[in-house]
Amino acid sequence: MPRFGILTSGGDCPGLNAVIRSAQIRVDREYGGTLAGFRNGWRGVIDNDVVEITEEMTRGIAGMGGTILGTSRTNPTEGVDAISGIEHALEANRLDGLIAVGGEGSLSAAHALSCAGVNVVGVPKTIDNDLNGTDYSFGFDTAVQIATDAMDRLLTTGASHARCMIAEVMGRNSGWIALHAGIATGAHAVLIPEHPVPLDQVVSWVEAARDRGQAPLVVVAEGFPFEGNGVLHPRGAEESGRPRLGGIGEQLAPLIEARTGIETRATTLGHIQRGGTPTAYDRVLAARFGAAAVDAAVDGQWGRMVALSGESIVTANLAAAIGSIKRISVERYERAAVCFG
Ligand code: F6P
Repeated sequence: MPRFGILTSGGDCPGLNAVIRSAQIRVDREYGGTLAGFRNGWRGVIDNDVVEITEEMTRGIAGMGGTILGTSRTNPTEGVDAISGIEHALEANRLDGLIAVGGEGSLSAAHALSCAGVNVVGVPKTIDNDLNGTDYSFGFDTAVQIATDAMDRLLTTGASHARCMIAEVMGRNSGWIALHAGIATGAHAVLIPEHPVPLDQVVSWVEAARDRGQAPLVVVAEGFPFEGNGVLHPRGAEESGRPRLGGIGEQLAPLIEARTGIETRATTLGHIQRGGTPTAYDRVLAARFGAAAVDAAVDGQWGRMVALSGESIVTANLAAAIGSIKRISVERYERAAVCFG
């Protein structure tokens, strides 16, 4: 009977619980196997912090945000005893392999572990939707919906006060949330890391909207380069050295106000985009990924991850997801930009 371990790693993401539930049901009902859950990402594997995942435990969790297993940004390839700790956890819990649910960092670690001989299958997750190797990641649809709802609200208060409103959304390397929510809301400018535009261009979009009698809405991804760099959060970098981003909206507001004369206010949506109930789309994608990850593990497809290709769930080499990010093409951005201003 197959027996696997599962962990959720990196920033949390709506849909993680739907993956866990679906993997448990698949391994139990289709293969008569069992599933062990590691708490707090790779940290739990290294420390052998494990819980048996039963059907009772996963009942009703598909619609719950967060992850019942907890998560961390622990990198399992760092530290002298990390790999032997992981091998020990697999042995001690009689596991045939691991199902690692994570973003770029976590899947890079999964790939490195797989190269070192650890049996691991990946499940891609990120609200940023910037992972290569899959058309979409679950969590993205929810984040776009939350951002769209927030911007619809910014539009009405902006119109009441004849203000320019700036909405800062997540997206450290790519502007998928910004672009999709911006299109959905009919924003007058969308600023993304992949295709920086100068302040003059932003000002002319804002003025064009104002001249038509509209309250301009500017959407900016947190990784949009300001004077050539991403804006660092006042708290600086994390322990791991990864920069904390945040604040580009507040940086832009006085500049736009000074250039246009329009009172300009910025709102940062922050972690609200990652919390709460996943959309139906994300629940379904996550559930399909969870079941497919179990199938891939039963097949012994170690070193691969499940992925969405068009309408189908497939598997891809973990290497496809790492090393580079999925960027918005210039053509796609320019087509959207026709509607700005
Ligand atoms: O998951 C990716 C992401 O949402 C980025 O867009 C953002 O910069 C980061 O997470 C924030 O992470 P944390 O919760 O660790 O501050």
